[in-house]
Amino acid sequence: MSTPELGVCYYPEHWPEAWWDRDAERMAEVGIKFVRIGEFAWSKLEPTPGDLQFDWLIRAMDVLGRHGLKVIFGTPTATPPRWMIDKHPDMLAVDKEGRTRGFGSRRHYDFSHLGYREECARITQLLADALAEHSALAGWQTDNEYGCHGTTYSYSPAAKAGFQLWLETKYGTIDALNQAWGNVFWSMEYNRFDQVELPNLLVTEAAPAHDMDFRRYASDQVAAFNKVQFDILKARRPDLPVIHNFMSRYTEFDHYELAKTLDIASWDSYPLGHLAVSDEAEDVKRQYMRQGDPDNGAFHHDLYRTVGHGRMWIMEQQPGPVNWAQFNPDPLPGMPRLWAWEAFSHGAEVVSYFRWRQAPFGQEQMHAGLLRPDSEPAPAYHDAMQVAQELKALGIAGTATKGRVAIVFDYQSEWAWDIQPQAKGFSHGAHVRALYAAFRKHGVDIDILSPHTESFAGYDIVAIPALFAWNETLRSAIAAYDGHLLIGPRSGSKTENFSIPERLGPDLPANLLDAKVVRVDSVDPGVQIEVRGSGTLHHWRERIETNAELLIEDVDGWPVLIAQGRLHYLAASGSKSLVQRVVDLLIAEANLPTLALPAGVRCRTRDGFRIYVNYGTGGATLNGAPDETGYVLGSAEIPAAGVTVAKLAKAG
Ligand code: GAL
Repeated sequence: MSTPELGVCYYPEHWPEAWWDRDAERMAEVGIKFVRIGEFAWSKLEPTPGDLQFDWLIRAMDVLGRHGLKVIFGTPTATPPRWMIDKHPDMLAVDKEGRTRGFGSRRHYDFSHLGYREECARITQLLADALAEHSALAGWQTDNEYGCHGTTYSYSPAAKAGFQLWLETKYGTIDALNQAWGNVFWSMEYNRFDQVELPNLLVTEAAPAHDMDFRRYASDQVAAFNKVQFDILKARRPDLPVIHNFMSRYTEFDHYELAKTLDIASWDSYPLGHLAVSDEAEDVKRQYMRQGDPDNGAFHHDLYRTVGHGRMWIMEQQPGPVNWAQFNPDPLPGMPRLWAWEAFSHGAEVVSYFRWRQAPFGQEQMHAGLLRPDSEPAPAYHDAMQVAQELKALGIAGTATKGRVAIVFDYQSEWAWDIQPQAKGFSHGAHVRALYAAFRKHGVDIDILSPHTESFAGYDIVAIPALFAWNETLRSAIAAYDGHLLIGPRSGSKTENFSIPERLGPDLPANLLDAKVVRVDSVDPGVQIEVRGSGTLHHWRERIETNAELLIEDVDGWPVLIAQGRLHYLAASGSKSLVQRVVDLLIAEANLPTLALPAGVRCRTRDGFRIYVNYGTGGATLNGAPDETGYVLGSAEIPAAGVTVAKLAKAG
């Protein structure tokens, strides 16, 4: 893979045409190579039905191309124009309370509406035909941030009809559905598929399998929506990549499934905004309010690298304050550079800043760009220029080094524990992120894997936290793996149909793990249960019957960590210190080389380089590592928001 590049998001339709040339010239001066355009421009491309106005777009691409810039064209389907609602009044989504979500902002459509899907196919085909041979065109983006603003689920008549059909295809007979959902419970049995309701506006909760199937259905609609555009774009230019820009901590559809019709996964990285709107503790939010969570970006880089079949971009990178959190602080000087370097260290091929110039109008007028509204450079303009020069000087290429640790991340488990948490706040994602952060403190490279990974070969340690249900592929991968495994809590505690498995969780053969979860204790997280040695438990602990070796127990003598050979089972959710203790134990057992990183400093390796970033508010001194031959950018003294790059003796 070649040297990574910078990009920027640009909206030529927001500015007088006379400005385009100078804008493009300045982008090139900064060292930008890619420009994403088009994704919200439908009302300018087709102001009234059938009146196609593509000339301005082609002129904008001509200008960008003349300055050596490459265009990623975003299909405009996230913002259908007003006339579209007149044409298809029932294309608007309906919220869980049964209210129609109106026109006047963006993402006002229902994934289940097949008429709108056809309109999207039409405009995508027309644009593909008009732009495919343009010399500046380098790739496509489909739509924009699927699911943003809570738009994956709709409770509309279109969704209901689609869901009923989907169920009929899945189950064949209504008896099979009744059986799978356990509908004998509360007399919920149906006689026909057209009686099945959506799981909203019920007297109390729906059957968990009903809710789960609705989420699977909704997820499939997003994937089907994307596939329509992918097929059109690929048919026109098989050689150009089709990309989508995903989000942080967004799990309402299965991204692995959707990415079967993508060439590259990109995501939109807004570290300060994400932290501000997250459920992290208030003290963490304050500590990192100008840097962002030191592990959240890295986690998503690793996740989306896997979602994207090894190819990952940042389509939108925060350049300064955003507009959409409760508070929108100014980043610490240098952070827009650090975020880019961190993304590159995790394999990003392109980091594209959002946006070129701050808009003086509209909802996002308080959102920074590389330029201020008066066209003077904002601080991130200089950060971007510096990154471009550094990239050139270093000649970094390749991709992220394969990690020695892997963690399985599963979208359905996110839905499962949301449907039936049993302990408020219990989440698969929280467990994955806690383990991720605990491994990352040791400076080890981590990969995120899908639950359909066929083999764990090459990893020293694999963790499968809070996985809702096994699938056969994963079972085989576990059986064939000879490294160190960490499973649980709650992994394998349900079947695919959301029932308790016959052998009870974790539902593994006794030769792998002779253990059964026979009862569960779930308590208010304010109640911290002590663990013998160190650490505390909260949310969740399992009473286990087992013949495995007991490694850690709580004050009441309940097993917390057990092991059978190299397979470990964690029977509780614990404090950061407990998670760290478990991770340290695994690392020691696997004899994995680690780094002593100063607080706030994180690192990853790519292409024979180790890239250190400092999320702390003060400077730190790096300790070096035996595999490093010296620093090629920065030094052992790494300032706040600083980046240091070490060369490794052996290319990774
Ligand atoms: C993203 C979105 C952009 C812009 C940006 C602001 O969610 O894709 O269009 O709204 O956030 O931070």
